[in-house]
Amino acid sequence: MRRVTTTDLWHHYGRTRIERDRAVPETFHWIWSQDGGPGSEALGDLTGRCVADLGAGSARQAAHLAVVHQPGKVVAIDASAAQHAMASELYAHLAPRLHLVHADVVAHLRAAPDAYDVLYSVFGAIDFTEPRKLFQAMSAALRPGGRLVFSTLAHYLNGDPAETDVVAADIPAKTPEGEAAVIRRWVLQEHVWTKILDEAGFTEITIDRLPAARNGPRIADTLLVTAFRRMN
Ligand SMILES: C[S@@+](CC[C@H](N)C(=O)[O-])C[C@H]1O[C@@H](n2cnc3c(N)ncnc32)[C@H](O)[C@@H]1O
Repeated sequence: MRRVTTTDLWHHYGRTRIERDRAVPETFHWIWSQDGGPGSEALGDLTGRCVADLGAGSARQAAHLAVVHQPGKVVAIDASAAQHAMASELYAHLAPRLHLVHADVVAHLRAAPDAYDVLYSVFGAIDFTEPRKLFQAMSAALRPGGRLVFSTLAHYLNGDPAETDVVAADIPAKTPEGEAAVIRRWVLQEHVWTKILDEAGFTEITIDRLPAARNGPRIADTLLVTAFRRMN
């Protein structure tokens, strides 16, 4: 029987990649296939800005921003001990401009009112965390007028349409010991994201649907969502 667990279900993610590629990426991609589409310009001018990556994984995108742009600070947050360890192994030397944090993003953001100019996520915590709770925390942690950008699936990987309400799907996963488990994932239609962002205090919400850059199995369209914290 599958079960929901507090075990680190992201223990394996990205591990094969770091065996062959440990460099700071030269490019930043939002789309699912990570090989085209818009880049970091979607985040605006980052000079001197305080930026956070929500569900940063091994912090590849955050490392790129820290090296290629001139942010005040990029904080790469991830709740997985394995992902945080991988990020530390690869990019700890980029401190203090890159700051690696092992935490749940909701807890981290709730403890940081008005702290950030820009929040972003690339198929990260926003896909795997109850969105109404997370968006409230994001809104409180962004300064008024601050920018949020995230990429998320436009539909399920098997082609099924995204949800018409705030409903999660159970995605099969494995514990580090090999036991079956599930990860909750929110795959929502554009109007659902817009509604819950608006309710959490965001404005100027735009959503672009970006096609996959190539054909093949497990290829998906991406929603690229941009919004700003409403001025009080
Ligand atoms: C699919 S991976 C994406 C990682 C990275 N953004 C990338 O593009 O490679 C999703 C990541 O989100 C993290 N995550 C999910 N929910 C989280 C939460 N509530 N707080 C912090 N990290 C979370 C997971 O631990 C995992 O590393």
